[in-house]
Amino acid sequence: MKRRRVGVLISGRGSNMAALVDAARDPACPAEIVCVVSNRPDAAGLEFARSRNIPTHVVDHKRYASRESFDAALNAYLQSQNLDLIACAGFMRIMTPVLLEPWAGKMINIHPSLLPLYKGTHTHERALADGVKVHGCSVHYVTAELDSGPVIAQAEVPVLPGDTPETLSQRVLVEEHKLYPKALAMVANRLT
Ligand code: GRF
Repeated sequence: MKRRRVGVLISGRGSNMAALVDAARDPACPAEIVCVVSNRPDAAGLEFARSRNIPTHVVDHKRYASRESFDAALNAYLQSQNLDLIACAGFMRIMTPVLLEPWAGKMINIHPSLLPLYKGTHTHERALADGVKVHGCSVHYVTAELDSGPVIAQAEVPVLPGDTPETLSQRVLVEEHKLYPKALAMVANRLT
């Protein structure tokens, strides 16, 4: 089995990145996390990656005058790592074609809703406001339109009476941490 080289993009806490790193410690996992990259120097997830001896890199978006120049710098680093796949994990940047085109079909993301429902932010608040009985999370390919690329895998989470955005997000997050490693392995196995 060929292990695929995966870079993970984060902006903050990095709990999904941590789930991917921990799953990839199994030598039978078809994905190997070779770098963790953040657009924020203070992203808490960077510390976790360092603690697991995963190389980290920061491309600080505040140091670039345009989205395109930031994306070009990020793409240059990602290209230098000979990656097969990129996994976005709470990476809070709108991407331009400068970054999207070179990685088309090779970049995936996790989103806290059952897409195509609740694209964008505040997904748990919106689901509760609508009174849905089932919520969840999705892993999808990243395309130009936000949270709209082909869905790879989903997990459902029941909405319970009395749920708040916080309680619901915590239960969804538990599923995210199971779903993302499985979906990444599926995608890695599919690469020819
Ligand atoms: C997760 O809920 C993920 O679905 C969304 O952003 C959040 C990131 O959390 N895209 P973490 O940084 O992985 O802990």
